[in-house]
Amino acid sequence: MNAPTNRIAGDAPPRHRHALVTGGAGFIGSHLTDLLLARGDRVTIVDNLSTGRADNLPPSHPSLRLIDAELSEAIPSLAGEGPFDEVYHLAAAVGVQLVMDDPIRAVQTNVVQTLDLLRFAASSETGGGTPVPTLLASSSEVYGKGSRSPFSEDDDVVYGPTGIARWSYGCSKAIDEFLALAYHRQHGLPVVVARFFNTVGPRQVGSYGMVLPRFVQAAVRGEPIRVFGDGTQTRCFCDVRDVVRALPAMLETPACHGRVFNLGSDREISIRELAESVVRVLGSTSPIVLVPYAEAYPEGFEDLERRRPDLRRIRDAIGFEPRIGLEQTIRDVAEAISGTRREGARA
Ligand SMILES: NC(=O)c1ccc[n+]([C@@H]2O[C@H](COP(=O)([O-])OP(=O)(O)OC[C@H]3O[C@@H](n4cnc5c(N)ncnc54)[C@H](O)[C@@H]3O)[C@@H](O)[C@H]2O)c1
Repeated sequence: MNAPTNRIAGDAPPRHRHALVTGGAGFIGSHLTDLLLARGDRVTIVDNLSTGRADNLPPSHPSLRLIDAELSEAIPSLAGEGPFDEVYHLAAAVGVQLVMDDPIRAVQTNVVQTLDLLRFAASSETGGGTPVPTLLASSSEVYGKGSRSPFSEDDDVVYGPTGIARWSYGCSKAIDEFLALAYHRQHGLPVVVARFFNTVGPRQVGSYGMVLPRFVQAAVRGEPIRVFGDGTQTRCFCDVRDVVRALPAMLETPACHGRVFNLGSDREISIRELAESVVRVLGSTSPIVLVPYAEAYPEGFEDLERRRPDLRRIRDAIGFEPRIGLEQTIRDVAEAISGTRREGARA
């Protein structure tokens, strides 16, 4: 694709749409909500507040409505809340740790509720009477333990055995993708699949195994920073405020509909280097300790050495380029963790 219809290099123009954001009280969803409200949109959120928090959202905003409910239970009454001009489906049981703790709930949330949501979107129309552009939040975990680097959207995926619950997260997201693309083909739903790579920033919590908030929290408290394995495994971290800018841009670009996009940063850093950066940027005295995987996880755990996205497709489509550096993100996460200030719409 060489003629992008919607560049996001500059600031996006104001608009007045009505967006449905599932999981909007969560980490990524709340930053997306900030962005949409700042652009003049009305936002309706459905979130059961299982891992999300109401105080991730502005305390009272005339254009924001939070429905505190299980997504599947809320869907029958959503028609009365619309019409919606866009749907962002972010609600999910997120992260490998949560999935390993309660695999039944995780698979059910990620597959059954996505099917319900897609069915709802496909049977809805925007205020203008057209099909509702719908974004599905997928994950780099879909690539499973594929060994290619970087990962491109059309690469084969490789999973471990079904006896290891860890792989059910990636598989559940892959089924979501199959469903979303099938709804595009069979029902003409203008759907976009975004495979998020490691997304970081204020409001992310460390309790579900997310690495950066865990490290920052330890550094702020002067406690040991626990690096799993030998720390040579690498990841690419992208600030959430960069990530959410891409989402409306993809939905507004018809050439993105019916396609899968990697979304994140392609700058690689080892987990050991990440820990060292956190210590350096925050001037912490925390020691860095290596923890064997067998000690960190209850069942046989396979980690990936590298997980780097090929970003050519999203660059071509919408001109996506991350703007916020990792050091800035580390500082903002530390400020959010140690301060009482709500990290508002800084994007
Ligand atoms: N953070 C990352 O690095 C990352 C990476 C890959 C993919 N993702 C995807 O991005 C999306 C958002 O993730 P996040 O990091 O913001 O996590 P999060 O846990 O902060 O957000 C998920 C939100 O969904 C809500 N939720 C969960 N189950 C629900 C249900 N049954 N009904 C209604 N609400 C429900 C939670 O309360 C939470 O607010 C998810 O789909 C996740 O799989 C995130």
